[in-house]
Amino acid sequence: MPRLSFREFTPADIPAVHDYASDAEVTRWSTWGPNTLDQTAAFVEGASRAQGEPDRSAYSLAAVLDGRPIGSVAVWTTDPHDRNGELGYTFHRAHWGQGYATEAVGRLLSLGFETLRLERISATCHPGNAGSIRVLEKSGFTLEGRLRSHRLVRGVRRDSLLFSILRNGHPGPVQPISE
Ligand SMILES: CC(C)(COP(=O)(O)OP(=O)(O)OC[C@H]1O[C@@H](n2cnc3c(N)ncnc32)[C@H](O)[C@@H]1OP(=O)(O)O)[C@@H](O)C(=O)NCCC(=O)NCCS
Repeated sequence: MPRLSFREFTPADIPAVHDYASDAEVTRWSTWGPNTLDQTAAFVEGASRAQGEPDRSAYSLAAVLDGRPIGSVAVWTTDPHDRNGELGYTFHRAHWGQGYATEAVGRLLSLGFETLRLERISATCHPGNAGSIRVLEKSGFTLEGRLRSHRLVRGVRRDSLLFSILRNGHPGPVQPISE
């Protein structure tokens, strides 16, 4: 039974988003943040801009509980020819551990596979981000490997884990490299 609803961000959401986007514990493993209020405002304004695009390739949405955004979630096309995409999510610390991110990933996968017509959706996270790793595992993603020195985050280079899920929900056959 879904508990969250998902909708476009509006400027009125800036304070609620800033509550979690400015929290250093929330952004500990993220490539961004903790945000200043200006950075949160720029994020919220940028997130809603894609809704007017004719051939929309990204959904950056508010995850709403009892009328208030408690998280930011997104799925987007990274390569239209290959039909590859990526997803990501962040939730307010007060709501962790209650299955909300896993519920949101289910919605993002529907958007990605059905609306964006993707064939493959990937997600990366820091190897220390046990909660996010668990969300991806519970959602049916397969760990593909470790991207060494993948991100420059707050002045430090970091590895990432690369996960993916395919349209049919299965890891898929291992293709010979020569194909
Ligand atoms: C990662 C995050 C989205 C998870 O959200 P959530 O709503 O708590 O996720 P869920 O409740 O759906 O699932 C979390 C799972 O991780 C597990 N988990 C959380 N912290 C853990 C830890 N330190 N070690 C091991 N498992 C952990 C939970 O027990 C749960 O698994 P379970 O259902 O098997 O018990 C949330 O912590 C968050 O917003 N973090 C900051 C932003 C972030 O890191 N985003 C992802 C960037 S890649």
